[in-house]
Amino acid sequence: MTKVICIHETGGPEVLSWEDRNLENPTEGQVRIKHTAIGLNMIDCYQRSGLYPIDLPMILGSEATGVVQEIGPGVKNLSTGQRVTYSGRGAYSEERNIDAKELIALPNGIEDQTAAAMMLKGMTVHMLMTKCYAVKAGDTILVHAAAGGVGSIMCQWANSIGATVIGTVGTDEKIKLAESNGCKHVINYSKAKFSSEVRALTNGKGVSVVYDSVGLSTYKESLSSLENFGVLVTFGNASGPIPGIAPLELMQLGSLSVSRPTLMNYTSVPELREKASSDLFSLVLQGKIKIEVGQTFPLSKTADAHTAIENRKTTGSTVLIP
Ligand SMILES: NC(=O)c1ccc[n+]([C@@H]2O[C@H](COP(=O)([O-])OP(=O)(O)OC[C@H]3O[C@@H](n4cnc5c(N)ncnc54)[C@H](OP(=O)(O)O)[C@@H]3O)[C@@H](O)[C@H]2O)c1
Repeated sequence: MTKVICIHETGGPEVLSWEDRNLENPTEGQVRIKHTAIGLNMIDCYQRSGLYPIDLPMILGSEATGVVQEIGPGVKNLSTGQRVTYSGRGAYSEERNIDAKELIALPNGIEDQTAAAMMLKGMTVHMLMTKCYAVKAGDTILVHAAAGGVGSIMCQWANSIGATVIGTVGTDEKIKLAESNGCKHVINYSKAKFSSEVRALTNGKGVSVVYDSVGLSTYKESLSSLENFGVLVTFGNASGPIPGIAPLELMQLGSLSVSRPTLMNYTSVPELREKASSDLFSLVLQGKIKIEVGQTFPLSKTADAHTAIENRKTTGSTVLIP
């Protein structure tokens, strides 16, 4: 028997239900793992609310760390007691069976909570900064929600490459964290028109790329913050999904491009997933990226964690403790 957080209908945080589940023996290609830490992600909220369609009932959760308890038939590359991590569905549980192919061995030197806080988010940053727009030294880039989970990792990563990072945050209290993440300039976009500030900071030129996870409330100004031939990477809907953007508008605003990626397409290619996780581990082990776990919640109180992230009350990553 194990405990899970499941939803039977979409809606607010109140639909998250703490339930018992029987756990069968792992089948062909599977292992049973006991979670030690589970990452919270905005995607969990989109699935819970119905913005991203899923089959119901569903155990939510998108990244976690655990210890292998039992090996199913045909699994050769893992052993009991081994620490593993993953980015994938069904993580809101104390224990679970999972395809061994989904798991990544966790190197010594990376704590369980750190890994749970960074796998989905860090691999997303890898995709955003290599596949969607290849950030290079000398670029000036704009990162929204720079004190959030993905934002904190992205700002540090871009800074380590030699890019100049302009970050946005929703409160003055988050400015210090964004600065410590490597932002050279931080704009409180609740107070200021950020596109004007970006123009002023770049001598009128604009930035090469905007990484916009906020969506509806920011995308228009994000487009107005770009230099000619700049790229808007829209990868989230924290304030709501954006409506369509007309190609002619992109021409008029300076021959712009728009990218709308999802990590699922990236990590479905095993070589990309391997490269993303090994680059992430390497930067974390070298101390070039520090993973900020801003708050933890018991897994049984996942609804409180959803309420906090949706009300912009979290900083860095949030971890659920089984
Ligand atoms: N496309 C992909 O494959 C992919 C993968 C992973 C994550 N993502 C996206 O990346 C973003 C960040 O994810 P995360 O889990 O690390 O979350 P997060 O950044 O820790 O939290 C979301 C942040 O968005 C900002 N925000 C602005 N307006 C908001 C609003 N109306 N409601 C709620 N938040 C608002 C808040 O920061 P301020 O208060 O500072 O504004 C908030 O802290 C999400 O949009 C997520 O969907 C996309």
